[in-house]
Amino acid sequence: MTDVWSDRAASYVESDAHRAGADLDLLVTWAAGRETALDVATGGGHVARRLREAGLRVVTCDPAPGMGPDVICRAEDLPFADSSFDVVTCRTAAHHFAAPEAAVAEMARVARTRVLLVDTLYMGEAAEQAEKLRDPSHVRNYSLEEWRAFLSAAGLELEEEVVLPHEIDFPAWLERTGCTGREAARVRELWGDRVAGERLTLDKVALKAGKR
Ligand SMILES: C[S@@+](CC[C@H](N)C(=O)[O-])C[C@H]1O[C@@H](n2cnc3c(N)ncnc32)[C@H](O)[C@@H]1O
Repeated sequence: MTDVWSDRAASYVESDAHRAGADLDLLVTWAAGRETALDVATGGGHVARRLREAGLRVVTCDPAPGMGPDVICRAEDLPFADSSFDVVTCRTAAHHFAAPEAAVAEMARVARTRVLLVDTLYMGEAAEQAEKLRDPSHVRNYSLEEWRAFLSAAGLELEEEVVLPHEIDFPAWLERTGCTGREAARVRELWGDRVAGERLTLDKVALKAGKR
């Protein structure tokens, strides 16, 4: 893949949309009591930071060297032995993966007890167009049904599923990928009522899954 992510690294480290959120708090709650974690597609490292603050030993991975992960790799091909980590996390990234089903299967393989996932939910085709126009590296957001199928195919049992509204700064979201001018105007139009003033409200899902 082209390494657009390394060029964007600083903006994802600083991003308010990524630094905090109820989804991040849920991941920390769900990982409580475990000792080791792998954070897949770590980006700005926000999940890893929070899990370390909670006392876990965390390894991070991401294919973009500029994100500074511990291990450079794709989620679809994790270079770890089976059951290497108590918990595997992956937040707000699967919509960029070429093969999300393979990635979930890999996460299940290297997890000992639990896989914790967060991603933006499918919100319709206009939303998909908006996402791709704003960021050509966007592949697809998935519906709850698709997520449940990915988990089941990987041999994971869904234990909790929480849908969360995620409100973010719309101009900052456009700026992170350099989306300006007519394209930005079209993106705003495609989101319809989800953009109000300078705020964009996305639907996110957080999934807690256990190994069978
Ligand atoms: C939005 S950022 C991740 C945000 C981060 N997890 C957080 O919670 O703030 C998306 C990340 O996915 C990574 N990525 C893209 N394609 C990937 C793939 N196939 N496997 C693993 N990571 C990938 C990018 O390099 C980027 O760092």
